[in-house]
Amino acid sequence: MLVTADHAIAFASGLLRQLGASGEDADVVARSLVESDLRGHGSHGIRRLVPYAEQVSDGLVDPAARPAVVPGTPPAAVVVDGRDAFGQLTAGLGVTTLLERVPATAVAVAVLRSCRHVGRLGEFVEALANRGLVGIAFANADPTVAPWGGRDRMLGTNPTAWAVPSGDDTAPLVVDFATSATAEGKLAVARDRGESVPPGLVLDAAGADSTDPADFYAGGALLTFGAHKGYGLSVAFDLVAGLLSRTGSASDPAYDQTFGTVLLALDVGAFVDLGDFRADVEAFRARVHASAPRQATTGGALVPGEPEWKARALALRDGFEIAEATRTALDKLADQLGAPTLDAHHPRSKEHP
Ligand SMILES: NC(=O)c1ccc[n+]([C@@H]2O[C@H](COP(=O)([O-])OP(=O)(O)OC[C@H]3O[C@@H](n4cnc5c(N)ncnc54)[C@H](O)[C@@H]3O)[C@@H](O)[C@H]2O)c1
Repeated sequence: MLVTADHAIAFASGLLRQLGASGEDADVVARSLVESDLRGHGSHGIRRLVPYAEQVSDGLVDPAARPAVVPGTPPAAVVVDGRDAFGQLTAGLGVTTLLERVPATAVAVAVLRSCRHVGRLGEFVEALANRGLVGIAFANADPTVAPWGGRDRMLGTNPTAWAVPSGDDTAPLVVDFATSATAEGKLAVARDRGESVPPGLVLDAAGADSTDPADFYAGGALLTFGAHKGYGLSVAFDLVAGLLSRTGSASDPAYDQTFGTVLLALDVGAFVDLGDFRADVEAFRARVHASAPRQATTGGALVPGEPEWKARALALRDGFEIAEATRTALDKLADQLGAPTLDAHHPRSKEHP
């Protein structure tokens, strides 16, 4: 099923209001989720409304809560208490506070406490880059990933995101990925579609390599990307973001199941001329695009962030795909909450050029 962005935002916002969010907050969270769908990351798109509703009903997320900046820290050290609000609101407050602080401090760091799932981490570093800052983020998450050489779930998918200002704010450079070999949501999407996954992503409950996404949900674990290197990054993010935010390491039985998140902002203009920096980034982009394709049949090199912008342009034109199982789950939830269901969208064309 193809869905348009406007329709998906209206659907998601209506559902979030029924869950107890204010209209303003519901719109912010809905837009954030739909941006993930538009950029080809359906794992972090509106399908997340199903677990979000469960978290609200379990009392883990407070849909009416508003995050707040904790007073008394030095200006460059921001602490945001998410108060178990939707994580997108907590990360958004982190970004707006960094933008306020960084003109005086040049560099500022926000640590997000009691922060629930923020969705696509890249959204928040991109917001910093669009204001002339380098944005860096990393986070820990609930344990789903085995330590390198082990098979027990001890680490989260622990994503990191980096964004730099470019000369083209419609195509900023954004590096944004999980340190697990795949984001957990992508496994769920593959499982919903009845697809297998490549080797190297999942262990089954006995610690054997598996290509069946269902094995993960039957007590298996995810692997980190890049063998011990991805594992090392995951450990660093778990300890730094987990301990600074007081969430704790995901491996600790006392871990509180929130997403310890760190956002860093560097004011480019405090170090070099921002215009020169943007020009250098564009020169880099041009050199990458000019790189000969590895094989005659491949399309050549892109800079990070570009695949998402290309996907977004197509999805804004044609709509984005929602798996049948996801649509069924979303419509069931909407029915339970008394919100309008997700109707079929009829695109002008299903053919991408
Ligand atoms: N909130 C959370 O707890 C959490 C946890 C894990 C992941 N996530 C989010 O899930 C999303 C997906 O993560 P993922 O690990 O599946 O990402 P991924 O493996 O799809 O990698 C995406 C990154 O790689 C770049 N990229 C992909 N193909 C490229 C190409 N051909 N050339 C150049 N660059 C290319 C993209 O621009 C992007 O920066 C991210 O937005 C991440 O923040 C969130």
